[in-house]
Amino acid sequence: MHRRFIAPGALAAASLLLAVPASAASYSPGAPGIGDPYYPAYGNGGYDVSHYDLRLKYQPQTDELAGTATILARTTQDLSRFDLDFLLDVSEVRVNGAKAAFATSGQHELEITPSAPLPKGTPITVVVRYSGVPSTKSAYGFSTWHRTPDGAVAADEPEAAWWWYPSNDHPLDKATYDVSVAVPDGTQAISNGTLQSTSSQLGWTRYNWRQEKPQATYLTTLAVGRFDITTSTSEGGVPVVNAYSKDLGDQDGAARASVERTGELVDWLSGYFGPYPFSSAGGYVPDTTTGYALETQTRVYYSPRQFAGGSNASLVVHELAHQWYGDSVSLKGWKDIWINEGFARYAQWLWSEHEGEGTTRELADYVYASHPADDPFWTVAPGDPGADHQFDSAVYDRGALAVQAVREAVGDDAFFAILKGWPREHAYGNASVADFRAYAERISGKPLDTLFDTWLFQPQKPAARGASLAEAAADPVAQPRSWRQIEATNSAHEHEERAK
Ligand code: ARG
Ligand code: ZN
Repeated sequence: MHRRFIAPGALAAASLLLAVPASAASYSPGAPGIGDPYYPAYGNGGYDVSHYDLRLKYQPQTDELAGTATILARTTQDLSRFDLDFLLDVSEVRVNGAKAAFATSGQHELEITPSAPLPKGTPITVVVRYSGVPSTKSAYGFSTWHRTPDGAVAADEPEAAWWWYPSNDHPLDKATYDVSVAVPDGTQAISNGTLQSTSSQLGWTRYNWRQEKPQATYLTTLAVGRFDITTSTSEGGVPVVNAYSKDLGDQDGAARASVERTGELVDWLSGYFGPYPFSSAGGYVPDTTTGYALETQTRVYYSPRQFAGGSNASLVVHELAHQWYGDSVSLKGWKDIWINEGFARYAQWLWSEHEGEGTTRELADYVYASHPADDPFWTVAPGDPGADHQFDSAVYDRGALAVQAVREAVGDDAFFAILKGWPREHAYGNASVADFRAYAERISGKPLDTLFDTWLFQPQKPAARGASLAEAAADPVAQPRSWRQIEATNSAHEHEERAK
């Protein structure tokens, strides 16, 4: 809009603004946390990262990690100072080329004061030179940097980044990555995405990995060790890169018998969730004694202990389901963990049904019956479990019960449209439990407030399961269907979409 006349008062205000030095008034430090009530100090305020470029060197013998992080970001307020989350020793910080002052504070804050304040909306390039021995660093009394006999692994949730790269450590600020790590010849460095190149000089081999889709900080992984790397392409065309420690011993066969099925299982899950969201898939099994698995984006982390009892394709299904539910669509706050774990568990139930080992309905009935009303299991509300209960079995099992309750309430057609539509609706973004409810209500046309409250938020056992069972049994559409039938429905739906 053009203003023909400017009021004299406005002119006076404008000249006053010009007279005031830029550092005054509106410029303030970015918050030391991004605002997650479960973890108030995680992430930071005042800027938004678009890309991390990490160029590192790691010596397994001494656990020394050194290098440079170059972070591309944009300010989201008039900024006098900002924080990164980091634990290693910093020797220099530059912001837009100029040396910046820095200090540490709190448990894991690196406070950076640029030489001149940064107006809101400014693109910034932050270069952090650092080194350190990650295994000697802790915050809140713990470390999630796991050394192995031949290297180390960074893969944990919700904290893993502080030990190896400076970041805005919260899933709300996703970014693309180039991770380049030099390791002694004969050792491999595994990370997310695509292996762009390797090179060797002076006894060091450099691995250059690239993730070109937005990725949460906790889903960024690094493993160094002696690995056997396998490559293939799934029938559906997804490139697969897996890596196995050369020292898996008795677990080697079961690990490979599980993780080598990645391509097959990615294709199978695509039938339910839509096209695989990334340009590479795979997993790695380092020589570690930690006991969990983690859905690190495109390159899942598996502990060898997960295969101690034999092969475990169901676990692979769980972690691959997260690539859609958790990685492409990330949570907004850690309280929203159900949109990750409830669905990854439900994918395992779908796999069970596919394998003839129990239908989703049978499994829901079983889980419901196996926890009596006075079992503390029911005191955990998967829709907002609290930081201390974020990974309790209730988040997974009661979480999957809630998914089954949605299915029984809306019917299979709407349910499978929701299951496939959600990863498309929020692809590469963030969403909450409330967003899921709103989406499911929109697609199904049914109010789901009571159902969500009962299954996700009440700290007690729901009075009955499968209230709609009798009704559903009479409705042939609500009978469990094979993925081929679902795929037929979905591809018909996609044709409609394309026709629009
Ligand atoms: N998201 C992971 C999974 O469900 C759980 C990781 C739990 N973290 C841990 N340190 N145990 O596969
Ligand atoms: Zn999970």
